[in-house]
Amino acid sequence: MAKVRFLPSGYETDVRVGTALVDVCDEHPEAEVPFSCRSASCGTCRVRVREGMEFLSPPADDELDVLSVFGDGPDVRLCCQLKVRGEGRIVLEVVEP
Ligand code: FES
Repeated sequence: MAKVRFLPSGYETDVRVGTALVDVCDEHPEAEVPFSCRSASCGTCRVRVREGMEFLSPPADDELDVLSVFGDGPDVRLCCQLKVRGEGRIVLEVVEP
């Protein structure tokens, strides 16, 4: 299990390794991460990884393409593309549009 905390909502939950975070957010709307396309095209779900990047799946090319448009830096990811891949603490902060 990984411990995932969402900011600014403060919602925290245990997530099994291999789980997609979009599924966690669907089950727990109190995480308050906004989604739209869910397929790495719109950038609505951008989150800043405050802790635990090493416990997340690495970005694929389509995610990197979208992130380059916003120019947020390497700590920002698309929540709709993230899977937990290791046990540890992960802190994600929603990037305001
Ligand atoms: S919801 Fe559109 S990029 Fe994640």
